[in-house]
Amino acid sequence: MAGMVDIHCHVLPAVDDGSTSIQMSLNMLRCGLAEGITGAVLTPHIHPFDGPDKEALHQERFAELKEAVAQAGLEVEISLGAEMGFRFGLAEVAGWPSGTLGGNGTYVLVDLPPGILSPGLERGFFSLRTAGFKPILAHPERHRQLARSHEQIGRLRQQELLFQVNAGSILGQFGRRAQRTAEMLLHQGWVEFVASDGHDLGKRPFSLVAARARVEELCGGREARRLFVENPGRVRRGEGIEGADASFPRPLQSPGLLKRLLGAKR
Ligand SMILES: [Fe+2]
Repeated sequence: MAGMVDIHCHVLPAVDDGSTSIQMSLNMLRCGLAEGITGAVLTPHIHPFDGPDKEALHQERFAELKEAVAQAGLEVEISLGAEMGFRFGLAEVAGWPSGTLGGNGTYVLVDLPPGILSPGLERGFFSLRTAGFKPILAHPERHRQLARSHEQIGRLRQQELLFQVNAGSILGQFGRRAQRTAEMLLHQGWVEFVASDGHDLGKRPFSLVAARARVEELCGGREARRLFVENPGRVRRGEGIEGADASFPRPLQSPGLLKRLLGAKR
């Protein structure tokens, strides 16, 4: 049976605020394996001000880690991608070898800057899509402005943006607002992937098993499989992903919750 694939994690050693060494990366992957992952796309941060040298460093570290994984006999398939800070002209960066998840030239994981969102955001995503890429928005539930504005989330959905929610958000590790927003997105059928965004083994672990159990409770086993196994696997292979079935949107457990989220002022 196919296992879970984590499409957003900071396991690549010594390049960002995630793993600090090859040993730590191996230990993180061991934890992931214990949770049932069979594959992981490593997504170090790439910021708007980074140049191709940073990307070359990622390639170098990835080759070293891949060899260490083989020597350690870990049965996990790793590939390289990036979590890109949003900027205009992102298509150029997305065209770098590790600009797309798994390097297959299709899916781009984009992180929005904190604070007030640029009015030209939708135009930026539009040009990325017209260049042939499929943007995935990383953890929209954690963005304060989006978490308070269902209307803006809806506009981004109309832009055919795919949403990746963090396992930790579903479990309340990033506060109640992020958790409620994650639940709202799940009930709307607006989530394509759940990923760990794992940074370490302490404060920001994988948490995929517990999050999958919670999604099963909220939305059923079939939906959990779509979000944790099937769609992430398709992304790695550069294939089209599957949308939520016709039973979505579903009512929230707490009827007042959706109203509060929809009506929340910025
Ligand atoms: Fe991340």
